[in-house]
Amino acid sequence: MTDVLIIGGGVIGLAIALELSLLGIKVTVLERNACAQGATWAAAGMLAPQAERLSGDLLDLALRSRSLYPHWIDQLQGITGMECGYWQCGILVPYLNEVLVWKLNLHTLPEYCDRAHTKTIQTGLNHNVAGGLWFKDDAQVDNRYLSKALIAALRLRSVKILEGVSVYSIETDQNQVTHLVTSHGNLQSDRYILATGAWTKELMPLPISPRKGQMLEVFDPNHSLKTVLFSEDVYIVPRQDGRIIIGATVENVGFTIGNTAQGVSTLLNNAIRLYPAIAAMTIQSTWWGFRPHAPAEIPILEVSPTYENLVLATGHYRNGILLAPVTAKVIADLIN
Ligand code: FAD
Ligand code: GLY
Repeated sequence: MTDVLIIGGGVIGLAIALELSLLGIKVTVLERNACAQGATWAAAGMLAPQAERLSGDLLDLALRSRSLYPHWIDQLQGITGMECGYWQCGILVPYLNEVLVWKLNLHTLPEYCDRAHTKTIQTGLNHNVAGGLWFKDDAQVDNRYLSKALIAALRLRSVKILEGVSVYSIETDQNQVTHLVTSHGNLQSDRYILATGAWTKELMPLPISPRKGQMLEVFDPNHSLKTVLFSEDVYIVPRQDGRIIIGATVENVGFTIGNTAQGVSTLLNNAIRLYPAIAAMTIQSTWWGFRPHAPAEIPILEVSPTYENLVLATGHYRNGILLAPVTAKVIADLIN
C-alpha cells in the first residue's frame, strides 16, 4: 500500500512527490488529466520574488525557494539528464514614468539604473525609457521542461503516477480522511495531500479561486533579449532557443476558457511599446491558464485544521513555479 496519496499532478504535487520519494516514502500521484497541464503548463516560469514585489513571510519563503533552485535543478538533471531551461538572467523593470509606483511597493532593494545603464543591460528598449530597476538575482525556468523532468524523475524512482483518475470526493470520519472516491474506485492510504490548484474548492471548502491569465508566444531565433523585461502591464520572458513568452492578463472570470481579442491585443501592444522589435516577430501560439488565488495571495501549506491525516498545499497564485522547491520541503517536514 502507498503511504501518501497526492491529489493533483501540477508542479506542486509533482515537486512534493519527488521530495517524499527521496525520503523513502511511498507516494502515488492522482491526476485527472495528464500531469502538468493546468497552471503549471500555462506559466511563464519567472522566479521573481523581487520583481513580483512580494512582502513579509511570503517574500521570505519565495527568496528561500529561489535560493533552493540551483541545487534542485542540478538534482533533477542528475536523476534524469534532462534540461530544465533554468537561466539566471535577472529581471529588468524599465520605466517610462511609473517608477514612483514601483518604489512605493518595493520590499527588497533593486539596483537603480539610469537611462544609459538600463540600455547596457538590455539593448533595443523603447527610446523613451528613463531608467530601470535591476533585479539581478531573479531568474527563470522553462516550466514545461521542468514538468517533463519532474515526471521523468518520478517514473525513474518508481513513483506511481495515475493519470486520468478524477477524485470525486474526500471521505472522512470525525477528524480523519478515510478514503478517496475516484473514477477508478475507492483509494486509501495513511496520509493525503491536496494539491489541486485552482480547482481545490471542488473537494474542500477552502478559499481558493481561479484568476485567469492569458499569454502568447512569439519567435525570433536571432532575438537579442538577455533578460526578462517586467513592467506594470506586461512581462516579456525570452527563452534561449528563440521563443519569447508574453504575459499576462489577470482576470476574475471564473473558469471561462479561451483567449480574447482584447486580452491578446493589449498584451501585444504593451509588449511592443516596451520592446519594439516584437512587432515584426511571428506569433507562435496563444493560451490561457487559471492561477490558484488565495486570500492575501498567500498559499495554504499546512496540516488541515479539520483532518489530521490531510495536508493542504494549494493557493500558490502567481508564484507556484518559483515556490515549488520550498513547498516540497515544507510539506515533507509536515509529513515526515
Ligand atoms: P496546477 O498546475 O493547476 O495543477 C493542479 C492539478 O490538479 C491539475 O493538473 C488538475 O487537473 C489537478 N486536479 C484538480 N482537481 C482534481 C481532482 N479532483 N482529481 C484529480 N486531479 C485534480 N508562477 C511562477 O512562479 N512564475 C511565473 O512566471 C508564473 N506565471 C504564470 C502565468 C500564468 C498565465 C499563470 C496561469 C500562472 C503563472 N504562475 C507563475 C503561477 C503558477 O503557474 C501556479 O501557481 C502553479 O502552477 C500552481 O501549481 P499547482 O500544481 O498548484 O496547480
Ligand atoms: N507570475 C506571473 C503571472 O502570474 O502572470
